[in-house]
Amino acid sequence: MCGIVGYVGDRDAAEVLIKGLKRLEYRGYDSAGIAIMNGELNIQKGKGKVANLDKKVLENSVKGHIGIGHTRWATHGEPNDVNSHPHLSESGKVAVVHNGIIENYGSLKRSLTEKGRTFKSMTDTEIIAQLIEEIYTTSKNVTFEEAIRLTLKQIVGTYGLAIVNLDSPEKIYIARKGSPLLLGVGDNEMFIASDASPIVEYTNKVVYLDDGEMAVVERDGYEVKTIDDVSLTKEVHELAISLEAIEKAGYPHFMLKEIFEQPRSMADCMRGRIDPDKGTIQLGGIADVMDDLANANRVIIAACGTSWHSGLVGEYLFEYLAKTPVEVEYASEFRYSDPLIGEGDVMLVISQSGETADTLAALREAKERGALVLGICNVVGSTISRETDAGVFTHAGPEIGVASTKAFTAQVVVLTMMALALGIKKGHIDNKKAKKYIKELNAIPDKVDQILKECDDDTKEMAKMFTYAPNFLYLGRSYNFPVALEGALKLKEISYIHAEGYPAAEMKHGPIALIDEMMPVVVIAATTHTNDKMISNIEEVKARKGRIISIMNKENSDVKELSEYSISIPSTFDVFSPLLTVIPLQLLSYYIAVNRGCNVDQPRNLAKSVTVE
Ligand code: G6P
Repeated sequence: MCGIVGYVGDRDAAEVLIKGLKRLEYRGYDSAGIAIMNGELNIQKGKGKVANLDKKVLENSVKGHIGIGHTRWATHGEPNDVNSHPHLSESGKVAVVHNGIIENYGSLKRSLTEKGRTFKSMTDTEIIAQLIEEIYTTSKNVTFEEAIRLTLKQIVGTYGLAIVNLDSPEKIYIARKGSPLLLGVGDNEMFIASDASPIVEYTNKVVYLDDGEMAVVERDGYEVKTIDDVSLTKEVHELAISLEAIEKAGYPHFMLKEIFEQPRSMADCMRGRIDPDKGTIQLGGIADVMDDLANANRVIIAACGTSWHSGLVGEYLFEYLAKTPVEVEYASEFRYSDPLIGEGDVMLVISQSGETADTLAALREAKERGALVLGICNVVGSTISRETDAGVFTHAGPEIGVASTKAFTAQVVVLTMMALALGIKKGHIDNKKAKKYIKELNAIPDKVDQILKECDDDTKEMAKMFTYAPNFLYLGRSYNFPVALEGALKLKEISYIHAEGYPAAEMKHGPIALIDEMMPVVVIAATTHTNDKMISNIEEVKARKGRIISIMNKENSDVKELSEYSISIPSTFDVFSPLLTVIPLQLLSYYIAVNRGCNVDQPRNLAKSVTVE
């Protein structure tokens, strides 16, 4: 949800900022802009992607060694040139880029207007530049830094901010509340970014800003303070990600690269944690809280989007393998339900980015009410990973494609390992069974590899037949009901085809009315315990001339015979099947979107990291 970059040092600032914004584009791509200070403030900005900005910057030869930049996912004000960041103060001396929402911007705007300030844009951000300048120029003995601090005290909402001021030409001011920001510490140069991807090329030393903190950044150092002016000594962390991991490696899209990375990302997720020979699982991040987890009244899983779908799979896993009761909540709804949660309960939040605002809010609410809060995150150092009491990282590597793929499977792997560890601890899984489960889990990455090798061409061919279908229905039962939801979401997100996921039996209670010869129905029929029931559902669809695409186990000739198209996958334990069944669905949505000429990695209106509520 908007990306922020900043640079001060000897390099060409515009070049560093543009490169950084390209890496952050997954956070929003409605418009982009930069402000470079070089005796004057050179602002280049406009609607559209960073590539458009890049052209402008080249045409206008923007030179300088200090600047800030922004890529936008619009909240207040439509995506046009005027509403693009950076936003300027009345005098044009102060430039601001912002990620977040200022909730009281209306009243602040009115009062600033009464003071004679004029506004150019419809954004909430512009008031920040104006208010800082108003305080700076009208109050006696107030430094620019102090003016920022006083402004932050007046604004209500969330922000990640980077600010430059022509009167302090060597400095960038940053502040954070609710939207991530980090500093990259270089050799006589400093970087600022919403996440580590723009920085990793230059330095592996980072400082994470926490909520309520601000910093003044110069080429030879930085000073972090609270917004109450208390100086802080911040830990410098070492980044573990590599540049390679955030590049496309020859694939046409990040999404395809990430789909094909799954055998490796799933294996990385299990590495050092499972021992198939001994039948044991060690999850270091939650070792100290395993007793609390085992004794929990119940586990509440809260997440959004694809992570919510993995949470639904988690419910089946925890209840089946560990006999632990689980409820799964949309993080965005959790806070508003006056949730019955407290001591003795465990809240498990799942988030790829670790920055989703609703998930963070659910975490904080549960913590405040006394629950133990655990997390499953992909991004090390992210806010959620730092605010949970304990957790497990998915280690899937950076996920750049907006449609989540490898993060989902890694989350399900973590949930499987957690459920198995808990089942073993609670005595529901004996050592013999544990060895069997863990051996099979260990074999999953190879089975995924096999699916990718064997099914890629078939899926591509099948996608051609359904490229222009206006609707899709996805049906699954038990463990694969969440996969039906995930398959439908993937298709909606990147190809803009309307798709619904349903528990197969629920089809009879409504969606069946939609079925005719135009309706492709994707049936996930790869579990033995629901096989007969799924066959009945397939018959019901066929009786109404629906077109069956099935994801099935190799040996399932009944399903094959009933299907117009079928994708065969290797068999596994029913409870592990979502880790396999989701793979062809990811490929299907990818190829349909490519055939439709959609921008797969940056679908319209979406952002990878949703840092507004
Ligand atoms: C956005 C992304 C989804 C993602 C969801 C939750 O909507 O487009 O791909 O599943 O946020 O994100 P998280 O980072 O919390 O998993």
